[in-house]
Amino acid sequence: MNTLVTETARTSTTAESAVDRITIRGGRPLAGRIEVRGAKNLVTKAMVAALLGDTPSMLKSVPDISDVRVVRGLLEVHGVKISDGPEPGSIVLDPAAVESAHMADIDAHAGSSRIPILFCGPLLHRLGEAFIPDLGGCRIGDRPINYHLDVLRSFGAVVEKLPSGIRMSAPNGLVGTKVKLEYPSVGATEQVLLTAVRAAGITELKGAAIEPEIMDLVNILQKMGAIITVDTDRVIRIEGVEKLEGYRHTALFDRNEAASWAAAALATEGDIYVGGAKQPEMLTFLNVFRKVGGAFEIHEDGIRFYHPGGELKPVVIETDVHPGFMTDWQQPLVVALTKAKGVSIVHETVYEQRFGFVDALVEMGATIQIHKECLGGHPCRFGQRNFNHSAVIAGPSSLHGADIEVPDLRGGLSHLIAALSAEGSSTVSNVGIISRGYEDFITKLRLLGADFDLEG
Ligand code: EPU
Repeated sequence: MNTLVTETARTSTTAESAVDRITIRGGRPLAGRIEVRGAKNLVTKAMVAALLGDTPSMLKSVPDISDVRVVRGLLEVHGVKISDGPEPGSIVLDPAAVESAHMADIDAHAGSSRIPILFCGPLLHRLGEAFIPDLGGCRIGDRPINYHLDVLRSFGAVVEKLPSGIRMSAPNGLVGTKVKLEYPSVGATEQVLLTAVRAAGITELKGAAIEPEIMDLVNILQKMGAIITVDTDRVIRIEGVEKLEGYRHTALFDRNEAASWAAAALATEGDIYVGGAKQPEMLTFLNVFRKVGGAFEIHEDGIRFYHPGGELKPVVIETDVHPGFMTDWQQPLVVALTKAKGVSIVHETVYEQRFGFVDALVEMGATIQIHKECLGGHPCRFGQRNFNHSAVIAGPSSLHGADIEVPDLRGGLSHLIAALSAEGSSTVSNVGIISRGYEDFITKLRLLGADFDLEG
């Protein structure tokens, strides 16, 4: 990796969250090399895991994104000392002085993140109490926390809802339990793991999510001294231990970011080398990318994604839990599908409202219809509940510039890709939200040859 670029990029990210609007002159292929670092959806949880250790932890490949800064702030108000490690992107988390925090401080630091709910198990073990404010996160569905609360109650936590949030206590400590999730929720699986490792006795989790980020969290917990068995058929067993040490770990790469840049290469007829991307965690994405007409080369240090020329082809996709096609991949890919010749269908089965971003694409000239029915696949839990969760995309469309507003993190990247692939000039507002999950995206756009101006 080019150190000079990395350092420049690192200093620019905080400023990126302050950027509100980008005017993009589209129609140019994005081409060049960018690097992805640790996955947002692992790094933030790995930072919480450090609360469980008796000694400091060191995490490497931490991206400079605002979700990481939110979790850092929350850990710091709970007394965790966080310092830079010996190399760029590494941090040391020292939990020696963990303490309860004031509700107002927690509230002020929680921002729009959903991670605070995962503090509960570790804090209940260490302090006997925890408080979480109302949770934020992208508006892509109702996003309840009922599984989390049920899980914590089943370990023995007492949950008290207050006007300002939720207070929990564990007057008799936390004890291993049997949990069966009705849906393989990523967050609820992490909740079980982070709570069970120090609970007395054995915990059995049925219906677990098994995303690569969860397996990497299991790797981290095992390094700390936990005993965790991942069985077949989504069953995870955890033998609680009395003591955990700190860990040293390099975070799994961000496969969602890698897939976003891959979609950008396809939609702009470009050629992007994503340094740090690896094949095993992206198998399902790579199959779809190839079916649409994209090409890729797997290298030791990354994956090259490119448009090989010729027409893009339509596909039928159903998003699903791992090892299915990730929900986070569909939004950026839909832009490329507007350029495919024929009718594509995307059936979203993870979040009930993840198509808010398509209105802007339609304004830019795409032909996309959203339906309440489960199209192109199996009936899902949203089919009978009146949710607009299937998209039919007819192409090819040539997009034209427009003034559009970013609705959420992945939808934001999709809007940027749409503007980059459109003829003419687009103004994309509310882009600050993109820095929640994409490190240095402005610098990366520059490295890839995008033509744009920024406004504060
Ligand atoms: N759900 C419930 N009750 C709960 C928890 C979840 O009904 O208590 C439902 C959700 O409403 C949703 C489904 O279960 O319909 C799946 O949610 P899950 O718990 O799996 O998602 P999450 O943990 O909130 C993480 C990622 C998401 C990613 C999903 C699916 C983080 C911080 N977020 O969310 O990432 O889409 O898993 O893989 O890890 C993103 O990065 O943009 C993003 C939204």
